[in-house]
Amino acid sequence: MTFLQLIDQSPHKTLAVDGSRSGPFTGSITVPGDKSISHRALMLGAIAQGTTRIKGLLLGEDPRSTAACFSAMGAKVSALDGEWVTVEGTGGNLQEPDNVLDAGNSGTTLRLMLGLLAAQPGKFFAVTGDGSLRSRPMKRVIAPLSQMGAAIAGKADNTLAPLGIQGKQLNPSHYHSPIASAQVKSCLLLAGLSINGDTTVTEPSLSRDHSERMLKAFGANLSIDSATHSVTLHGPAQLQGQTVIVPSDISSAAFWLVAAAITPGSNLLIENVGINPTRTGVLDALAAMNADITLENQRDATGEPVADLRVRHSQLRGCTIDGELIPRLIDEVPILAVAALFAEGTTLITDAAELRVKESDRLAVTASELTKMGGQIVEHPEGLEITGMGAKAVLTGAKLDSFTDHRIAMSLAIAATRTHSLTQIERAEAAAVSYPSFFETLSAASH
Ligand code: S3P
Repeated sequence: MTFLQLIDQSPHKTLAVDGSRSGPFTGSITVPGDKSISHRALMLGAIAQGTTRIKGLLLGEDPRSTAACFSAMGAKVSALDGEWVTVEGTGGNLQEPDNVLDAGNSGTTLRLMLGLLAAQPGKFFAVTGDGSLRSRPMKRVIAPLSQMGAAIAGKADNTLAPLGIQGKQLNPSHYHSPIASAQVKSCLLLAGLSINGDTTVTEPSLSRDHSERMLKAFGANLSIDSATHSVTLHGPAQLQGQTVIVPSDISSAAFWLVAAAITPGSNLLIENVGINPTRTGVLDALAAMNADITLENQRDATGEPVADLRVRHSQLRGCTIDGELIPRLIDEVPILAVAALFAEGTTLITDAAELRVKESDRLAVTASELTKMGGQIVEHPEGLEITGMGAKAVLTGAKLDSFTDHRIAMSLAIAATRTHSLTQIERAEAAAVSYPSFFETLSAASH
């Protein structure tokens, strides 16, 4: 038995991780491009006038879904595996596609695209996704878009995909979102590009602001009121193609930050990671847990801050993760739960009900799968309570399932390295949604 072994691959991959063969995480690694920025670069490129050049695009399944949808609407996207990907934009005049647009597993693709499609007068679009995406709530974008004049119909009383969109000329609006969601905010701002007048979105706390940064870079006129967490797009706007350098994804780096923090002897450098303050909640949470992480070589990559992150093993302690911190680490809760198992004391994660409507119910799945490994986790309606077992703790190998959720598959693989036995992860292929090379890096970095 090697450290990692594929033990079944039809119809899904089951991967065995031999925890007895894993060692400290050392050396230096790079992780793939930021998923959020990759989606936005492809989408803004597709609706801009002229050519957009993208370096460092994530080659995961999610951005591939975005590229396929916009190619079907007339954008000319070059081969995605080149060093540079180019997008010849449509100038905002998307073609009516011949067939249903498939967003796959990607909530960002579907929700952001809905804003653009709803605002294409006289054109019809049908959109769908995989089983997970078809069960995720779309009312959060359909309701505000409908108030702006959109005509969107769908399953379950117009709340679930598949959806049909009859494009319309939409009206200016000010939407007070009940949730801090970058997908909701970005959907409405993208709709606003073809509206005569202002589109304002106010959120309860700040969600990731990649759309705002990139829309400005592509020439849109935006006003931001950080005191009220409001952003206004002054429409209409004709975007112009740009060059985008995509930094590595801090949400992918998070797996290695935690792996090294909980594994004695680790000292790992993760290069070129995006440290946009709306995304660095994981660094704040790990700092509160006494993790040893330093930021080196801070710099800027086309409007997004970047740094190399060095992480060394340390004795973690429990902490509380709640409130405005949650949207800033929304995708990192499963891996932070793994970190909390190796802390001294209890970690309480609250205000995190949004995790129930991600690619899986991440509160339920994180609790159920880590419990199978001997972790003590109590699931609350809006969070998790994790009893830390200390730095010397060892989990028990078990038969686990990713529930086709990429971040669960990778979090469980990191947990599996801290056992002395075999862990089986069913449906491990889900990792490819955001991190196709995850398991190769796991083999290389854990010696
Ligand atoms: C994303 C926003 C987040 C995040 C998702 C990507 C984005 O969702 O969970 O993985 O690119 O806008 P919400 O902001 O809707 O919570």
